[in-house]
Amino acid sequence: MSCEKAYITTPIYYVNDIAHIGHAYTTIIADTLARYSRMTGLDTFFLTGTDEHGQKIEEAAKARGKSPQEYADEISKKFKDLWDEFDISYDKFIRTTDENHMKGVQKAFLTMYNNGDIYKDTYKGHYCISCETFFPEIQLVDGEFCPECGKPTSVVEEESYFFKLSAYEDKLIEWYKDNPDCILPRSKRNEVIRFVEGGLQDLSITRTSFDWGVKLPKEINDPDHVMYVWLDALMNYVTALGYGTDEALMDYWPARIHLIGKDILRFHAIYWPAFLMSLGLPLPKHIGAHGWWTRDGEKMSKSKGNVVNPKEVADAYGLDNFRYFMLREVPFGGDGDFSQKALIDRINSDLGNDLGNLLNRLIGMSSKYFDGNVDSSEVEKYYKEELDEVHASLDKLPGLLHEMQIHRYLEELWRPLTVANKAIDKYQPWTLMKEGKETEAMALNGLIANILAKVSVMLDPVMPHTCPKIANALGFEITQESWEKLIAQKALLDTFTIQKTDPLFPRIEAPLLEEAKPEDTKAEQPATKKVQAPKEKSSAQSEGVALIGIDQFFQTSLKVGTVVEAQEVPKSKKLLLLQVDLGEEQPRQIVAGIKEWYSAEDMLGTQVCVVANLKPAKLMGYKSEGMLLAAKDEDGLCMIRPEKPKKPGTPIG
Ligand code: MSP
Repeated sequence: MSCEKAYITTPIYYVNDIAHIGHAYTTIIADTLARYSRMTGLDTFFLTGTDEHGQKIEEAAKARGKSPQEYADEISKKFKDLWDEFDISYDKFIRTTDENHMKGVQKAFLTMYNNGDIYKDTYKGHYCISCETFFPEIQLVDGEFCPECGKPTSVVEEESYFFKLSAYEDKLIEWYKDNPDCILPRSKRNEVIRFVEGGLQDLSITRTSFDWGVKLPKEINDPDHVMYVWLDALMNYVTALGYGTDEALMDYWPARIHLIGKDILRFHAIYWPAFLMSLGLPLPKHIGAHGWWTRDGEKMSKSKGNVVNPKEVADAYGLDNFRYFMLREVPFGGDGDFSQKALIDRINSDLGNDLGNLLNRLIGMSSKYFDGNVDSSEVEKYYKEELDEVHASLDKLPGLLHEMQIHRYLEELWRPLTVANKAIDKYQPWTLMKEGKETEAMALNGLIANILAKVSVMLDPVMPHTCPKIANALGFEITQESWEKLIAQKALLDTFTIQKTDPLFPRIEAPLLEEAKPEDTKAEQPATKKVQAPKEKSSAQSEGVALIGIDQFFQTSLKVGTVVEAQEVPKSKKLLLLQVDLGEEQPRQIVAGIKEWYSAEDMLGTQVCVVANLKPAKLMGYKSEGMLLAAKDEDGLCMIRPEKPKKPGTPIG
């Protein structure tokens, strides 16, 4: 029986440098899609690999005193090792120096040549080696610099074979217009249409001034030429399936999606479909172009020493947490900024508070009241409304993923967690138990367990190492069958006994990586360094708490304050607006999410403990210049206050 196929690809990475966060981002998105696709029963093939030819690689190898092949072997292995360490679920890792790939490229060249799409002429123009791209003079900055990367271009005048790209203008426009989702996000498709409507020039597809590339087919008999690296590279998407050699896997073609960064959209959305049209092959269903990552608001570059090394981030913060952060933080297609603060916020808040704590609450409640047993049989009876709300959110997920709105997928996936947390606060299992309503309390636990189970299934493609732990605590395994049952059929978990787990998302109180100094970059060091941690594991560490030095603790300014004014934030269920005297000239305005437990009246005139050196933030339009210390458990929240009255501004520590 044949089942629907899904072929998913990443770009193949240049072997002139080691992997950075941009490479990891594309690969992790593709891995997430591939895992999702497999879980939902599609016959999936996931391709990644390395792009090893061209002038840029030849020069990088020369600069290191190595042959291009030797150098390519070394860096390609680093990429492969990293993806293996990241447990990237690729089915094939292609290298453009693979024999079969090169044969496939030659076959493609000959086919295009024989059908009249390739002719010989002379190319005169500017070439950017770093981008491996030709630019007409009018596009250059100050007549000399590359419009993409800003580096100087070189003037090239050489004999070259050309591909008749101009002949495909109309057909390309027809394809974009007939397939509104062929380029995602859709806004990017409009950019491409405008570009093509502006007119296409034929494309130079061979070079003679260096020789690290695929030779022309022997039938053409022109040994001075090697193929343009982008023709060579793009062909990887079909040679990986055996195009031109053993075509056994070609039934995976056309690709469901090529994932790429926005900088290489033109190659994928214009050249690639035109090549495929010339070869008589079907066009990919989607090309998904993501945005660009910066670090702390700045472009990453080796000279600034601010390139984010994905391995270090994953080692320090956890691979799944890093995956979640990247996919949740940025709307697909938009640019994203990496900062440790943003990553820590996501871990502590979304993962720790919303997800991890919910599991802990469930473990706590079911152990306390029911010896760890969870029975879902009365969930529908007592909590149908909540369950319907959860299923309504889950129903939206496939569509969001199909449109590549991964950040919205995750946002929507968090709604069931909110439903669960709210249900606990609203129905209060401890009150139900006091009132003797055991069945209702058990059903409430069942509701929470099912929400966690369903969320963990749908989160698994993003966090494939953490979700199985949640599933394990809930007595099931994440498989295509459990997806079928819990998601597709909307069924509930069988009765089970909950397993206690170690905290999944220990709170992170301070950055775990130190910023590197620019001089570190000379030795090609990554831009982040581990904060020195004690060698022996202490008890705090074994409980999953990150250890900090005393000086790190003192970076937080804690002070006693007196609430001198308190009012509700209009239209907010959670927030109070407080003026807190910290012994400074003016009271500080602090917006506190405590209204569920304290009224404005309760707070007025009381003393509180304040984190006094937080960057100001805006909440519901009000500036907040500090944070109150409080403790929260399943019984609610209480403020942390000095035992005896203290002068406003008294430091704590
Ligand atoms: N070899 C070509 C791709 C050929 S595919 C047929 C290439 N390689 S690359 O190594 O330079 O880049 C690979 C991918 O990394 C691209 O999708 C690019 O967009 C992405 N990124 C490189 N730097 C990036 C950021 N700073 N942020 C996000 N992605 C970035 O291009």
